[in-house]
Amino acid sequence: MDLMNDLNRLVGAFGPSGCETEISRVIKELAKPYVDEISRDTLGNLICRKKGSGPKVMFSAHMDSIGLVVTHIDKEGFAHVGALGGVSAKEVLYTPVRFQNGTRGLICAESGTDLEKLKVSGLLIDIGASSMEEAHKLIQIGDAAVYDTPTRMAAGRVISPYLDDRIACLVLLMAMEQLGKTENDVYFVFSTQEEVGTRGAKTAAWAIDPDYGIAVDVTGSDDEPGSKHQASALCGKGAAVKVMDRSVICPPALVEKLMGLAAEKGIPAQRDVLQFGGTDAGPMQSTRSGVYAGGISIPCRYTHTPTEMVDLGDVKACAGLAAAFAACKLEK
Ligand code: CO
Ligand code: ZN
Repeated sequence: MDLMNDLNRLVGAFGPSGCETEISRVIKELAKPYVDEISRDTLGNLICRKKGSGPKVMFSAHMDSIGLVVTHIDKEGFAHVGALGGVSAKEVLYTPVRFQNGTRGLICAESGTDLEKLKVSGLLIDIGASSMEEAHKLIQIGDAAVYDTPTRMAAGRVISPYLDDRIACLVLLMAMEQLGKTENDVYFVFSTQEEVGTRGAKTAAWAIDPDYGIAVDVTGSDDEPGSKHQASALCGKGAAVKVMDRSVICPPALVEKLMGLAAEKGIPAQRDVLQFGGTDAGPMQSTRSGVYAGGISIPCRYTHTPTEMVDLGDVKACAGLAAAFAACKLEK
């Protein structure tokens, strides 16, 4: 696979929470050569299975992204918006955006707005329309807009929108490609609606009924300027093995298993404690009578801004560790 080409396709595919059809189609095409069967469920989760007779291992990387949803179009033709997931108003001001139908625009606010007090409800999208009528020809209430910022390399790092969580979708695709023969019954799930409350993974985990659940997502990086140690992982220091976040406390034996596998395979890894945010590990752990759930994460700077950053070495480490776990001997 061509890493940067695939990443560009993943990032370029439209897929805000609840509207994942396009991104799902792209992932399906990329996953096809590596798995035995692919299905979609009612919530739109894309479930790629590599069949085995042993324990069921479910990986989950969410394919939805945060975005803005049109709530009102005013008489000047500006779209008023609400948040789809965790959007910080001052971080997105003057960011270019696009809608599914190709309509482009940019995020603005009323002049004279106090930026410190700016909320998402104070944001507008200027789509270049000069009246309400003109705007209504291009967009309608309920349409979602996503960041339309480029993907670029800086030293060994990627700068891009939506590395949360398209970089983890790439990690799962890389792991699939690396995965050789295994007894395990492996499910690679590309989940929907994570950013609005891990909704897709909840039904997928219930249906699959896995023995082990591993969320693959980005995690906070403690090396942003002035970082206050709310996260423990560092960019460039390898795969972040989840110890806990706000949605899950992982079984210590599973954390040790992942750290041990990394050491054995010579994959750089670090322990990850995140004091904000949750992942698909939460709903996987608490489905049915409980599942051994953990996480493999890519440290990410500036998460949820229109320009996030991850280290390519960490991406490769996460893929290697996911593939190693998928193939390893597990108890039922
Ligand atoms: Co997120
Ligand atoms: Zn995420």
